[in-house]
Amino acid sequence: MTTTVVREFPDTTWSDDGPTRGAEAAVERGEVLRFPYLPFALHESELRFRDPRWADGKAKNISVRWPAGDMRGAAGTPAELAALQAMIVRYAEQSEALALRLFPHYRGHLKRGNTSFRPVDVAGRATSWRKDDTRLHVDAFPSNPMQGTRLLRVFCNINPNGKPREWRVGEPFEAHAKRYLSAISRPLPGSAWLLAKTGITKRRRTEYDHVMLQLHDRAKADAAFQKDSPQAKVSFAPGTTWVVYSDQVLHAAMGGQHMLEQTFYLDAMLQQRPETSPRGTLERLMGRELR
Ligand SMILES: [Fe+2]
Repeated sequence: MTTTVVREFPDTTWSDDGPTRGAEAAVERGEVLRFPYLPFALHESELRFRDPRWADGKAKNISVRWPAGDMRGAAGTPAELAALQAMIVRYAEQSEALALRLFPHYRGHLKRGNTSFRPVDVAGRATSWRKDDTRLHVDAFPSNPMQGTRLLRVFCNINPNGKPREWRVGEPFEAHAKRYLSAISRPLPGSAWLLAKTGITKRRRTEYDHVMLQLHDRAKADAAFQKDSPQAKVSFAPGTTWVVYSDQVLHAAMGGQHMLEQTFYLDAMLQQRPETSPRGTLERLMGRELR
C-alpha cells in the first residue's frame, strides 16, 4: 500500500535566508512538504484573534482576497478588523516569500489567491457529504473551474492550546485516478456552455474540470474507499507549516482549530515538470487532451 509521502524540512525562517530551496520536484510529485519548526509569529495584540467569535457566522473562514486585499467573513469594530486584516496580510506576504524561495522556478508566475484564517473547529462544520472535508478528496470546486491551473497551498497551525491539525492523506494521484476513471463519462454536450451562461460556473468548466469534480465527488461518496483505501494519519502540531498541491494530494481534515492558509495559482505549463500535474497524468491515462 502506497500513500502520499510527507517530507520534513528544518527551516526556522520564512524569509529568503532559510536553507530549503529548489523543492519543485518534491511538491510536483505530490508530496506534503512539512516544516515543523516554522511557526507564524503573532504579535501580543493579535493573540486575541484565535477565537471563533471573530468569524461573522455566515462564512466558515475569514478571508482576504487579492489583488484588492479586502477582508470578508469577519465581525468586529473598524479598529479590530484592521488589526485582524493586518495579521492575515502578513501571513500572505510571509507565505509568498517562502513559496518563492522553495520554488524559484515559479518566480514571476505564481499568482496570489485568497488568504484564509480558520478560527472555527473542523469538527461539525460539514453541511453535506459533498462539502464534508473530513472525507479524503482532491480539491475541485463546482462553481470555480480551474481549467488546469494548479492549486498550491501553504498552511500553518497557530493553535494556542497545543491542539494539532489532524489530516489523513491518501493514495498517490495516479492510483486514485485509475480507481474511478473508467466509470467517468464525458460531460453532456452543451453542459459547460449552459453552466457558464447561467452563472453556475465562473468560467467554462472544461473536461479536465469535469473529471476532477467527478474524482472529488466519487471519492467522498464512496464509503468503502474512505474506510479501506491506502491512507495515513498526519498530525501537524502548532507551529508547523506545510505546503501541498491540494488538487493532487488526497487529503482529509479530521480535526483542529486556528489555521492560516494561503492559496497560490500556477499555470501547470509553467511547472518544472508539467507532465506530473493532474491534467498531465489524466491525459496520459486517457490517451487524449482534456480541454
Ligand atoms: Fe481540500
